[in-house]
Amino acid sequence: MHLPIIAPSILAANFAKLGEETRTVLDAGAEWIHFDVMDNHYVPNLSFGPMICEALRKDGITAPIDVHLMVSPVENMIQDFAKAGASLITIHPEATIHLDRNLQMIKDLGCQAGIALNPATSIDCLDYIMDKLDLILVMSVNPGFGGQKFLPSALKKITDIRRKINENNLNIRLSVDGGVTEYNIQSIFKAGADTFVAGSAIFGKPDYATIIKTMKDACR
Ligand code: DX5
Ligand code: ZN
Repeated sequence: MHLPIIAPSILAANFAKLGEETRTVLDAGAEWIHFDVMDNHYVPNLSFGPMICEALRKDGITAPIDVHLMVSPVENMIQDFAKAGASLITIHPEATIHLDRNLQMIKDLGCQAGIALNPATSIDCLDYIMDKLDLILVMSVNPGFGGQKFLPSALKKITDIRRKINENNLNIRLSVDGGVTEYNIQSIFKAGADTFVAGSAIFGKPDYATIIKTMKDACR
């Protein structure tokens, strides 16, 4: 299993100070930046696009940017985010009719590829695409908004996917997204996740270093 990674979702950051917030949370010990892209079509909310990702890169952010595309269609955004400096691009199977082709497109553009599974989405769709995946993102809330409550059904899904990854000896990160806090992170880690997206639990605190350390300490 991979070393645990904390990926703060800047959806919960102060947008008026996005560059500063991003640097602060990385200096506080976060490994990745989670970048939630919402289109008011696939999900009922609107966030930010590739120009903001590019602006963070131009501002000197070198850490991996983990782009979570909650958009449909996906093709244009895959291309634009690859150009804008995304490290990893994750898409939802429901958002495209050509999942395999789009995962390959992400790889061909030089990024790592991920798939995000909504709470009601079965893990069966993983079977024929596992070889193209660098990350599986288990949604522990319905996508569209930060600050929602963790759905406990995600724990069984994480356990089932961890088994699949280990049985096939695959080098795939297993991420969880939605309602992750310092209180539930240990049970999520024990279920088999190695990558933890957290928005409000981190940006809602006055001291990012303390909360990130608390979360990391819970994962061992
Ligand atoms: C939900 C997003 C999440 C969310 C996490 O659609 O994908 O990344 O912002 O936020 P919290 O940690 O506040 O649930
Ligand atoms: Zn996300």
